[in-house]
Amino acid sequence: MQSSSVESVPQNAKDHVNLLILGAGWTSTFLIPLLEREGIKYAATTTTGRDGTIPFKFDPQLSDPALYKTLPSADTVLIVFPLRGQGQSKHLVQMYESTHKTVEGHKFHFVQLGATTIWTASTWHDENSPYELSDARAIAEDELMLCSQGAVLNLAGLYGGVRHPRDWLDRVINTKAQLKGKGALHVIHGDDLARAIVAFHRNFTPGKRWLLSDMHVYDWWDLAQDWAVQTLRGAKSGDFDVPADKIEIQKELLAWVGELMVEQGVRALPRDTSSLGRTLDGRGFWKKMGIWPTHGRIK
Ligand SMILES: NC(=O)c1ccc[n+]([C@@H]2O[C@H](COP(=O)([O-])OP(=O)(O)OC[C@H]3O[C@@H](n4cnc5c(N)ncnc54)[C@H](OP(=O)(O)O)[C@@H]3O)[C@@H](O)[C@H]2O)c1
Repeated sequence: MQSSSVESVPQNAKDHVNLLILGAGWTSTFLIPLLEREGIKYAATTTTGRDGTIPFKFDPQLSDPALYKTLPSADTVLIVFPLRGQGQSKHLVQMYESTHKTVEGHKFHFVQLGATTIWTASTWHDENSPYELSDARAIAEDELMLCSQGAVLNLAGLYGGVRHPRDWLDRVINTKAQLKGKGALHVIHGDDLARAIVAFHRNFTPGKRWLLSDMHVYDWWDLAQDWAVQTLRGAKSGDFDVPADKIEIQKELLAWVGELMVEQGVRALPRDTSSLGRTLDGRGFWKKMGIWPTHGRIK
C-alpha cells in the first residue's frame, strides 16, 4: 500500500465517512488515490494498523463491541478480505450495525469483494448464471445479501502495479498437460476495479451479485506463447535478467504451444472463444454503472 496516500485517513472513529475500506491491501493502492481525487471521505483498516490505518482484524469467534467501535460509521462498508461459510457475514454485519447509528430510514451498504471462481461450468457466465452453491465464499456472500441486502462484486484476476499476469505463468503451467488443460483467462486492472467500486458506492444495487472483468477473454496458449517470446527476446537483448533455467522453461513453453496446436488442430492463436470452455461475460456491471473499462488488452 502507498503510505503517502493513507496519511489523510480520518483517525477519529466518530467521524462519519462515505466509504470504509475493511482491508486496505493491493486494491487500495488504486482505490485510495481515486477516492482522494474524487473528494470521497474514507477510512481504511489493516490487520496491523500500518501506515496510519485503523487496526482491525475480523475474528468470527469474537463479539467484542469495542473492536467495532473503533470503526467509523460509513455509507458504504467495503469488505475486501474473504468471508467464508455460514455465519461470518451475519456476525460482521450484526457487530457493525449494533455499534453504529444510521440516519433514520438509511441502511449501511455492505459490499463484499469476491472472486469469479464461483462460476465453474464450461460455458458462458454472466452475473445471473448459476454458480457453485457449496463454495465457502459464495455461501458467505449469499448470507451477506440475505442478512443486510449487501452486494457482491465477484472479480476476475487482479492485475496492475506490482502484479502482472505474466508472473502467474510459472505458478499455473509447469507441464505440457497443464498447458493443454488451460482455456480462458479473465482479468481486471486495479484502476478499473477502483473506478468500479466508486461507481458502485454512488449507484449501489442492494442484494445483487455482479461479475467484474475487463470484458476480454484471453487464451492461455496465446498469452503463454507471447510472453515466452517476449522473455526470450528480452533475455537475448539483455533487457531482462532471466536465469538460465527460466530460459529453458520459456523454450519448452514455446514448443508445447506449437505441438498442442498441431495435435489439437488449432490453426492459429488466439483460439476460438467457443473452444476455451469457461468464459465470462462482464458487460452487465459496466452497463448498469454507465461506465466502461479503461484498460484494454493486457500488454
Ligand atoms: N488476487 C486475485 O487475482 C483475485 C482475484 C479475484 C478476487 N480476489 C479477491 O479480491 C479481494 C481483494 O484482493 P486484494 O488483492 O486487494 O487483497 P489483499 O491485498 O490480500 O488485501 C486484503 C486486506 O484485507 C486485510 N485482511 C485480511 N484478513 C483480514 C481479517 N481477518 N480481518 C480484517 N482484515 C483482514 C489485509 O490486512 P493486512 O494488510 O494487514 O494484511 C489486507 O489489508 C480479495 O477478497 C481477494 O480474494 C483476488
